[in-house]
Amino acid sequence: MNETQVKPAATPLRILDTTLRDGHQSLLATRMKTEDMIPLAERIDEVGYWACEVWGGATFDTMHRFLDEDPWARPRILKQYIKKTPFSMLLRGQNLVGYRNYADDVVRAFVDHACEVGIEIFRVFDALNDFRNFETCVEGIKKNGMHFQGTICYSLTERRMGGPVYNLDYYVEKAGQLEAMGANSICLKDMAGLIAPYDAFEVISALKKKVSIPINLHTHYTSGMASMSYLKAAEAGVDVVDCSLSPFAMRTGQPAVEAIAAAVMGTPRDTGFDLNLLVSLSQKLEEVAKNYSQLLDDHKMAVIDTGVLLHQVPGGMISNLVNQLKEQNALDRLDEVYAQIPKTRRELGNLPLVTPTSQIVGVQAVLNVLFGEYKIVTHETRAIVQGLYGRTPAPIDPEVAEKVLKSGGAKADRTRIDCRPGDVLSPEMDKVKTDTAGVAQSEEEQLICALFPQSGRQYVEKQRKEST
Ligand code: CO
Repeated sequence: MNETQVKPAATPLRILDTTLRDGHQSLLATRMKTEDMIPLAERIDEVGYWACEVWGGATFDTMHRFLDEDPWARPRILKQYIKKTPFSMLLRGQNLVGYRNYADDVVRAFVDHACEVGIEIFRVFDALNDFRNFETCVEGIKKNGMHFQGTICYSLTERRMGGPVYNLDYYVEKAGQLEAMGANSICLKDMAGLIAPYDAFEVISALKKKVSIPINLHTHYTSGMASMSYLKAAEAGVDVVDCSLSPFAMRTGQPAVEAIAAAVMGTPRDTGFDLNLLVSLSQKLEEVAKNYSQLLDDHKMAVIDTGVLLHQVPGGMISNLVNQLKEQNALDRLDEVYAQIPKTRRELGNLPLVTPTSQIVGVQAVLNVLFGEYKIVTHETRAIVQGLYGRTPAPIDPEVAEKVLKSGGAKADRTRIDCRPGDVLSPEMDKVKTDTAGVAQSEEEQLICALFPQSGRQYVEKQRKEST
């Protein structure tokens, strides 16, 4: 090749690599072991990624629970090989890497240790897009001088962006709020793969006008539209998109980096990546991917989930609904449940459907179909109505709120709060320290126990037995 032809693009599309986190979380139930990442790690560093997502999401849970690995060790080990590329993690706001709101002292300690093990970019999200749930995390991230990537969960109530809640103004306003909070970049997180190419163009164009910090689009291939949406987002000026190496790409994962890099080659958005290097990395990954192929969902030929195009219900949520109905011997009522989901969701304040709200809405919708609307109410539905997860994107239906609050019986707490949910939680670390005295030998181990009182403690106890 003529060397003079190779000059950097004017505005290269930057790529965040998700192979080592969302890639295997989406396709292989987050089961990739650290030892299998090492053969790839050194050369991943040569690609020129904007960042590598290596931690957070479900990794902390699966590592200690199923892989018998110390969750804190992974970023430390990978840092020995990936020295230049910054590490990013997905942090569920006040839920950290667990499934409930933790007290502020747990959040502070967690963020400090995450910085210490090498995380530099914190992608922080909240299932309700209530940014008050970011406050304590952000304090810690800023104190440590790290990058706060403020996240907006992308959601729809109609076929396409628009309607009374999730319209263009909603996203633009949220982006303004994040910039005002001190975000270093913004992630638009489309966890269900709903974003349509022309909506991506419209929303990214509007966000670029509104804020001056970089915009990162995250989506999933689930509906089959992801690569088209990236291309339109690139045309609209998106700064960063998330991709995986091809063996861990597409299906319910991210678009493949090789295809995205090739698609923009020779244009002003050329990534500058060496396609030969990417392909050799994928070949290397294919070798270890064999160890995990039994985890891949191949029960049907189609690699896309057409259900998402029809009713916007994320794939993972559908399989849970089917299981719940099977247990009740009521699988024939699945269509009624599909009709009930948008209704229940609207009544509970039009929540985005992402962990944990997808579960909360799904389970309640099934109960509403089987036993009558809000005759049986889950603990979590009550907590949503009480404001314990935060403020919902739209108001909760007042009649539904009353039914839900009454459902716990005369003695049940009916208080509704409108403050930051973390404000009503008492500190937890001292109690964890007392409870784990003689078992946990470091604050990192105490945090494993604080986040996962059962499985975490079991893991830590096992370490003690093995070291004696
Ligand atoms: Co994702």
